[in-house]
Amino acid sequence: MVQIFENIDISSRNSFGVHQQAAKIIEFDNNAELSDIFRNHIDGQWLVMGGGNNILFTKDIEQTIIHPRNCDITIVADDSIGTTIRVGAGLEWDELVEWAVERNLWGLENLSLIPGKVGAAPVQNIGAYGAEAKDCITNVEMYSPQSDNFITLAAEHCSFGYRESVFKHSLKGRVIITAVEFRLSKIESPKLNYGDLCQEVEKRGGATLRNIREAICAIRRSKLPDPAQTGNAGSFFKNPIVERAVAEALLAQYPNMPHYPAADPEKVKLAAGWLIDQCGLKGYSEGNVGVHSRQALVLINTTGKASGAEVIAFARKVQSTVAEKFSIEIDTEVNIL
Ligand code: EPU
Repeated sequence: MVQIFENIDISSRNSFGVHQQAAKIIEFDNNAELSDIFRNHIDGQWLVMGGGNNILFTKDIEQTIIHPRNCDITIVADDSIGTTIRVGAGLEWDELVEWAVERNLWGLENLSLIPGKVGAAPVQNIGAYGAEAKDCITNVEMYSPQSDNFITLAAEHCSFGYRESVFKHSLKGRVIITAVEFRLSKIESPKLNYGDLCQEVEKRGGATLRNIREAICAIRRSKLPDPAQTGNAGSFFKNPIVERAVAEALLAQYPNMPHYPAADPEKVKLAAGWLIDQCGLKGYSEGNVGVHSRQALVLINTTGKASGAEVIAFARKVQSTVAEKFSIEIDTEVNIL
């Protein structure tokens, strides 16, 4: 079914809770409806919005917002070592993780409780606790309004990287992701190397899928604000990837600075949260916006009244404070519209 909403407030449709107006939102259940939607209901620019969890609206939205609602999980293949599933873009991500854990299928458990819809997962290649969505994605299905066609792109052609994919670049604004295919494993494959995850899992009795999921949910709940209570979009900034020499110079000055290998062996990934924290900004707020007191990477709508413009002005201050102290530019992870 297709549902159309006009001139509505979108504060309940974005996790930051900013009050902006959208000219038109089109929600649809079946992929077959897309052709008709583009022929009869869209005559200008459009954009796709899933759960609105990684987006900051700084003004009213004139483009038509398209919102996929298809939540189906279909088993495509099943053998002794794994199961391949095709999942509708509209399913809540964490419902998919729970579905997999319940069926003893490995691969998504470290990504428990990440807010958002399945269709958004490949766009920014969501990641946490040493795992990324790309580790399990095999295909991404999408609709191209230009050619009025459905296309399936294999994972190896999605240019996945750290919070990166082809959907943020050459395919941006050109396709609507309708479904994602995942290959999940029946073979136990716990990934427990990240921070205190191993300890948290041991406390719960060892590395079962259920214990890993519960440990991750507990860690996330202890560090990250619940968007239902405090508006936020998870990590507001990306962890910066710098030249090895830059990291070494900083490590000489700050020997305890967290740092991680990057995909490029000549580079090193630093922790933006640590850099912001070192600037004394953790818990700092101005007006209606602040840095979360338990995780400096997260900006929050402290009063529920922040406008997108206010959040972005605050974010720019955080970026320039980090640049002044460390000569490092931190980029936003959140999409700013
Ligand atoms: N740190 C501080 N102060 C802070 C925050 C972090 O000193 O306020 C230090 C931590 O002690 C740690 C290091 O920085 O040594 C890294 O912190 P953490 O393990 O909390 O992870 P992160 O790099 O801050 C990333 C992801 C999160 C993901 C966690 C866990 C990005 C941008 N963020 O955060 O993803 O949950 O790792 O894997 O890569 C998201 O994308 O929305 C998100 C929450």
